[in-house]
Amino acid sequence: MAMKIGKDVEYAAKLLRHDQLVAIPTETVYGLAANALRQSALVKVFETKQRPRFDPLIVHVAHADVLTDYVREVPTWALDLIKNFWPGPLTLLLPKQDIIPDLCTAGLAKVAVRMPRHPLALALLQQLDFPLAAPSANPFGFVSPTTAAHVADQLTDQVDYVLDGGPATVGLESTIVGYEGSRPVVYRLGGVPLEALEQVVGKVHMLLNQSSNPAAPGQLKSHYSPGIPLELGDLQKLRHRHEGENYALLSLQPTAPDHPFQEVLSPTGNLSEAAQNLFGALRRLRKAGVSLILAEEMPDRGLGRAINDRLRRASAG
Ligand code: TXA
Ligand code: MG
Repeated sequence: MAMKIGKDVEYAAKLLRHDQLVAIPTETVYGLAANALRQSALVKVFETKQRPRFDPLIVHVAHADVLTDYVREVPTWALDLIKNFWPGPLTLLLPKQDIIPDLCTAGLAKVAVRMPRHPLALALLQQLDFPLAAPSANPFGFVSPTTAAHVADQLTDQVDYVLDGGPATVGLESTIVGYEGSRPVVYRLGGVPLEALEQVVGKVHMLLNQSSNPAAPGQLKSHYSPGIPLELGDLQKLRHRHEGENYALLSLQPTAPDHPFQEVLSPTGNLSEAAQNLFGALRRLRKAGVSLILAEEMPDRGLGRAINDRLRRASAG
């Protein structure tokens, strides 16, 4: 069956009630959604993404009020984060209730939950009496999709419907926060900047970039592969090192107007705009016919941190 793209929330809801897969827009990236409470629907998600079963899925809810249906406890710091960042690009790792299938959490005791901010995602969730498990709607290890067309590019016949909500406004996956003991821990940098988190809960620990991290097994270094080699660092040095080679440039602001293949993430140096453009830019460069991407390291603040994290993983791929 050819994949359909549209804005029909009712149709999307109907498919999901029948355990089918729907790609949904969120403010971060597009997700590949299924009924989070149905093992048979979850199996389809893993198969379609070719995702290993040890890599758990994020559960999306319509409202913070339903959270306690799915998790056993919500610590005070988590409540504070919810007040400040839900709906939005923040995922919380909390002890799961039995109603969440083990397949969803890959057998782990905690489930990842978030309430997205995208109006179509919320309208859809409000029509359903179950939450939606949704990993990013890309084949495992690939750059996440930020438009319906990106989803269609890679998952052509394998999704029953793509709910088109336009380009993602954040453009990076959610920030994932869990805890060890009584202290919040960041497992993935994302759409909520570290500084904003710390304004609410104080200093947080970070557990990133582990090649085998049992708490967040998806944090593999080689994630976010753009399909061609990528080197991250100081552009001038990189260009010097690769002189004469067929490379493309990825920079925050314009640096080499004469270079034929390049992506500028934000002409004014705005890191939110850069985040919005990052994954689209990587997809375009993949198709540009170059053999190498030279990427500039972003300032290490705000969303720049999360962008650097994705570029670092892309460079390890
Ligand atoms: O912004 C986002 O978070 C997007 C949109 C669609 O919501 N989703 C997303 O899902 O990025 P995915 O599956 O591509 O990445 C989820 C990450 C993975 O690294 C996974 O290992 C981790 O979250 N994760 C999910 N559930 C977990 C759990 N129970 N314990 C530890 N890590 C978990
Ligand atoms: Mg992903």
